[in-house]
Amino acid sequence: MKKLLIKNIKTLVSVYEKAPAKLSGKAMAQLPCIENAWLACEEGKIAEYGSMEDFPGISDWKDLQVLDATGKLVLPGFVDSHTHLVYAGNRETEFVDRINGLSYEEIAARGGGILNSAQNLRTCSEDELFEQSKQRLREIITQGTVAVEIKSGYGLSTESELKMLRVIRRLRDLNWIPVKATFLGAHAIPVEFKGNKQGYLNLILDEMLPQIAKEGLADYIDAFCESNYFSAEDTRKIFEAGKKYGLTPRLHAEQLSHSNGIKTAVECGAISVDHLEFCTDADIELLKNSSTMPTVLPGAAFFLNLPLPPARKMIDAGLPVAFASDYNPGSSPSGNMKLMMSMACVQYKLNPEEAFNAVTINTAYSLGLENELGSITPGKRANLILTKNIPSLGFLPYAFGSDLIDTVILNGTVWN
Ligand code: NIG
Ligand code: FE
Repeated sequence: MKKLLIKNIKTLVSVYEKAPAKLSGKAMAQLPCIENAWLACEEGKIAEYGSMEDFPGISDWKDLQVLDATGKLVLPGFVDSHTHLVYAGNRETEFVDRINGLSYEEIAARGGGILNSAQNLRTCSEDELFEQSKQRLREIITQGTVAVEIKSGYGLSTESELKMLRVIRRLRDLNWIPVKATFLGAHAIPVEFKGNKQGYLNLILDEMLPQIAKEGLADYIDAFCESNYFSAEDTRKIFEAGKKYGLTPRLHAEQLSHSNGIKTAVECGAISVDHLEFCTDADIELLKNSSTMPTVLPGAAFFLNLPLPPARKMIDAGLPVAFASDYNPGSSPSGNMKLMMSMACVQYKLNPEEAFNAVTINTAYSLGLENELGSITPGKRANLILTKNIPSLGFLPYAFGSDLIDTVILNGTVWN
């Protein structure tokens, strides 16, 4: 396999001989860097690094690619721990409806929203769904994402949920970047079960879950814990069932109202609890005694004009916080993690170092990828970003509309 050497790096960012699994509280502001550095990758992994002043030179040129990174930063790539990027069609007409005064809930109540996407997905062939989703995956890699979680939840029937999860598996099998799959059958109650939530829950528990487990299609189980969707009690049942099949819980919680999602997630040992617009001080206390990663999805809060989750307060309380994109057609039609970093800084008052850790180390933890990604550490996968010529890390979230990703490296190989 080829070897890669990157030399004359202006700043090598997030460098640890031994990386922490996650960063909490004050430690989120730490970002160890080496100025004027070199980095060597072998067998697709990070091998060695150092200062150019101590650069040992090249003794073996065989199969070696050399990149000159003068003026550029080298970063561990972004890890996006919450997306719905497998979907069919788009929902820009609902976007216009919301501009004209309808709420997200009103649109959902008249059959739009998640049910609109479910209708589109059910009539889309698996191959077509794969092609649309592959294009989105390619797009986010170009924007610097080097590992992603993708949820089902726009199928809402056994056949269509399986179709989504098979598409996620096909995306994983492209072997571009690590892809984790989450079963989100409990995303909404489909039209054919209107007024019969229990019937749909039975379908999830008795039919979908066993089939998904049999085919090994999911790593995680999720639910939309929200009024008019699934209660804390429903969520608990779904999580207990999922755990019996080896699926780890992660949860959509407290997005549109306070629904005791955080409490349920913590009690069920969820690895991540996401959204958090209606998170209370009592919830922050619950999170302090857990290993659940609080995850903010700034794209959705921005796009739906929701109150901002208390990310700053959480960090000041000593908690870890992750930021992910929630890339989906209804509430966050963007998977651009650099933009999420800008929102983290501008709207949530994270400093650039905290924001960077929130989209790398902490999201990697929430996907069980803490030993593989999230920092420049020997033995970790060489999935890296080379920036364009920029003055500092802070310039990334500052220049919020500029494409500053010059080169993406996956498994030690130049991607674009
Ligand atoms: O994470 N909150 C629930 N699910 C998605 C939105 C789904 C949709 O509107 O299509 C979210 O925001
Ligand atoms: Fe989501």
